[in-house]
Amino acid sequence: MFQYSKEVMKHFLHPKNVGEIKNADGIGKVGNPVCGDVLWLYIKIEKNKKGEEIIKDVKFKTLGCTAAIAVSDMLADLAKGKTIEEAKKITNKRIADALKGLPKIKHHCSLLGEEALLNAIKDYEKKKK
Ligand code: FES
Repeated sequence: MFQYSKEVMKHFLHPKNVGEIKNADGIGKVGNPVCGDVLWLYIKIEKNKKGEEIIKDVKFKTLGCTAAIAVSDMLADLAKGKTIEEAKKITNKRIADALKGLPKIKHHCSLLGEEALLNAIKDYEKKKK
């Protein structure tokens, strides 16, 4: 049996970023066919004072395991305030490290977060064209 870190349990029990953004600029949806978990990620983009596009807000709706919910919430915290280019570099390892580690068997849950963010950014970039 594996154990979750305190950080994982904090983000699982008290997630701050659950919800949906009305008129989101980008939406990323990913699912894992093996476990059946699904994650929707909503992002709002704004320009900062330097004229760079930054991720102003992130919300998520996750139907998934403890790790998937903690990953979603941590990912939202990590992505907020980042430029698009910085956000694209948020890897599943970075999310897992911020959560003070994930059990090996839960590795795919962190991949779901990374993919959802990249999909939401792709969706935004596609709509912008
Ligand atoms: S068990 Fe599938 S996302 Fe966690």
